Amino acid sequence: MRSDIPLILAIESSCDETAAAVTWQRKVLSNVVASQIDIHRRFGGVVPEIASRNHTLALPQTVWQALMEADVPFSEIDAVAVTYGAGLQGALLSGVSYAKAMAYAAKKKLYAVNHLQGHIAANYIDCDLRPPYLCLVVSGGNTAICDVPDYLKANIMGETVDDAAGEAFDKVARVLGLPYPGGPEIEKIAKQGQAAIAFPKANLKDRPLDFSFSGLKTAVINYVHGRRQKNEDIPVTDIAASFQKAVADVLTEHTIKAARRAKRDKIVIAGGVGANGYLRETLEYAAKREGFRLFYPPLKYCGDNAAMIGVCCYYMMEKGMESAPLSLESRPSLKINDLLY
Ligand code: KG4
Repeated sequence: MRSDIPLILAIESSCDETAAAVTWQRKVLSNVVASQIDIHRRFGGVVPEIASRNHTLALPQTVWQALMEADVPFSEIDAVAVTYGAGLQGALLSGVSYAKAMAYAAKKKLYAVNHLQGHIAANYIDCDLRPPYLCLVVSGGNTAICDVPDYLKANIMGETVDDAAGEAFDKVARVLGLPYPGGPEIEKIAKQGQAAIAFPKANLKDRPLDFSFSGLKTAVINYVHGRRQKNEDIPVTDIAASFQKAVADVLTEHTIKAARRAKRDKIVIAGGVGANGYLRETLEYAAKREGFRLFYPPLKYCGDNAAMIGVCCYYMMEKGMESAPLSLESRPSLKINDLLY
């Protein structure tokens, strides 16, 4: 390993995964994720206070395991990278406080990483992808189409005006009686159903690249309630397949439109919803037909993880960005193009 390339210890705790990783350039030496899904599932969604407390409990073990698996002593780490936004305030605070303490105690540089930039950087891991490209960011908290002219740059071309796509998956799953997180559950049962119900498209008049998923979500809820009131069966698998198709179609349509407009030849998917096989297939088919190359991360780097935070930090260091002060605060509503401390 070249010694002028930094070894990074990365920490992620923006929602319900406590994660730590050791990365070197685009390589992942370890990637540990302690998921809280089983804890939150009984409440039907993430309870912020419980998430923060569990991050605090899980962080020491998770970080230790990441260093052990990478076989790197902490003394050899050059920088500590931490997600400081966007996410849940208390959850972010747990990771930021832990990272600050480690950096201070061992006199390491601290880097504050934007979680959404991290999701984009997940595509660089073990892959030769380089900007410029068009990126569809689809996670539980965000849905946006960005032009990425360079590393760490993201110009928003379109975004949701209400719910994120992942949020819509989770809420629709809840209505259908499926456990949290709803996205993978909907994908699973949709395979047994027919996309035969015509739910409205999440389009907005005169805003061809923006989305609105709340109308689609309400249409599903009304459909279910309507059938319940008439004592009719709820065709859960068909609803799941139809809803998933409505989401994938609109994401694909807008992404292709944006890629043409931005004159990019590569399309990249980032974020948890990017794990959805139906969305990947729909976008892959459309991209091939239109002459774009499609990239998406391996499943283990789609959801929240710290490897993507470490790789993002590498590009921050490459660009000569300043390290963060120990007064760093978490920023729950950080936007995808915010890179300021
Ligand atoms: O990126 P992520 O792990 O967390 C955020 O940064 O928000 O995304 C979580 C979201 C959840 O809403 C979850 O239901 C959704 O991603 N998700 C999926 C799938 N896997 C996770 N949505 C659809 N299909 C999937 N296979």
